[in-house]
Amino acid sequence: MREITKITCIGAGYVGGPTMSVIAHKNPNIKITVVDLNSARIAAWNDENLANLPVYEPGLDEIVRDARHRNLFFDTDVERAIDEADMIFISVNTPTKTYGKGKGQAADLKYIELCARQIAAVAKDDKIVVEKSTLPVRTAAALKNILDNTGNGVNFHVLSNPEFLAEGTAVSDLLNPDRVLIGGDDEVAIEALVKIYRSWVPEERILTTNIWSSELSKLVANAFLAQRVSSINAISELCEVTGANVDEVSRAIGYDSRIGSKFLKASVGFGGSCFQKDILNLVYIARTYNLHTVADYWEQVILMNDHQKSRFAEKIIQTMYNTVNGKRIAFLGWAFKKDTNDTRESAAIYVADYLMDEEAQVVVYDPKVSDNQIYSDLVSLGTRSLEEIKRLVTIVNDPYDAVGDAHAVAILTEWDEFKTYNWNKIKGEMKKPAFVFDGRKLLNNIEMNKLGFEYYAIGE
Ligand code: NAD
Ligand code: UDX
Repeated sequence: MREITKITCIGAGYVGGPTMSVIAHKNPNIKITVVDLNSARIAAWNDENLANLPVYEPGLDEIVRDARHRNLFFDTDVERAIDEADMIFISVNTPTKTYGKGKGQAADLKYIELCARQIAAVAKDDKIVVEKSTLPVRTAAALKNILDNTGNGVNFHVLSNPEFLAEGTAVSDLLNPDRVLIGGDDEVAIEALVKIYRSWVPEERILTTNIWSSELSKLVANAFLAQRVSSINAISELCEVTGANVDEVSRAIGYDSRIGSKFLKASVGFGGSCFQKDILNLVYIARTYNLHTVADYWEQVILMNDHQKSRFAEKIIQTMYNTVNGKRIAFLGWAFKKDTNDTRESAAIYVADYLMDEEAQVVVYDPKVSDNQIYSDLVSLGTRSLEEIKRLVTIVNDPYDAVGDAHAVAILTEWDEFKTYNWNKIKGEMKKPAFVFDGRKLLNNIEMNKLGFEYYAIGE
């Protein structure tokens, strides 16, 4: 097999963009082209002002500055990039299906199939095709089938190389991964990909497995992580009625080295583009093999998460004398976690929807999320027109504009800057009693009470 000198990545999203930037940064001798059908996204990746990159990730601007126009290129010409590449990463979106068989659970593989057909149609020499997207176990077989049956007689080797980065810490996760996982059945193709990662990842952290284990491990890793969040969130409700404090419980159990301390932070519910989608997919796969007990077990993780989001909204309503009609509720944060502009499946969307059902006036401030994104998240719920949403939701660019005259503040994202606000001043500007509902346990209970807030935090 020839030396890998040119890599193409199809999909310039939250995974394709940062992942390829780091690979290019660490492999200056390999030309990397990231392509996307979305020309606005590609234009943003090419923007000379690095503040305009389409993905916000701490440290990403420096990596892009280093590699872009040297050996890292962003382009819309998918065919040319496929043609010239030795290795092609597929990093397109694999959302939950919204139609037909498996609607609401199975992964929608139409974008993956389109990529496979396009690669097959264009390729004139042998290629290694790498699954970077998160895919149902056994997708590689379908991919190989399409490539072999619609191609021009060239050889394709399919590898699975799922991505484990978390948003908000993508760059440090990529620079210093716990592990890199590569699944495949061709030793030479595997070695070609291992060599690229070896440029900066210690050998012992590069795991190779068979292709099905690799595909399944990605879904399982996300399921286990989400399960921890749902587990601690279930306990947070128990803490609230028993007088225990969920942070203290997390700390106490986290000291047990078998349990470990990470991912035990109670919250208003997990969001993000991966956890829910991947668990639903796992549930769907289990059901297709008639493993209904297995499917029911994992489905509970999602049900618990839905419960946590509505429970938080209900708590706001109940505490405010069972009516929020016309009351101004300031949302601090809209992103699904701090340090990202991503809002997919963010708990804030569902809490806002719940409060809008009760005719609350929601005022949103998020340091990184655009107005359009917030409105489009609410429109995509399909419950209200944009006009109706604009009647109930206002978006502001200054946090103090959000909290002024508010009946309540709800913290939906754990942005660090919220801790630094002048809460005494905020108290002065709010309606009384001044309620704070902390969905992230970001602020200090004792201090907030001392300042005279009616302060409620998850799990206390
Ligand atoms: P994304 O929606 O941000 O990006 C996907 C991009 O692919 C889009 O820009 C889209 O325009 C492009 N695309 C789709 N079909 C195309 C085609 N045929 N040709 C060219 N471009 C095409 O998605 P993402 O968050 O980067 O996720 C990509 C995959 O990685 C998913 O399978 C996801 O589950 C997985 N993943 C995501 C994360 C994460 O944190 N976001 C982490 C690990 C794994
Ligand atoms: C996740 C996985 O962590 C990552 O490995 C995978 O590649 C993609 O999916 P991501 O969704 O970007 O990453 O962020 P993550 O840090 O996992 O947080 C997911 C959600 O869980 C967020 O809404 C976060 O606020 C919430 N969370 C996380 C908690 O509520 N409590 C915790 O203790 C940890």
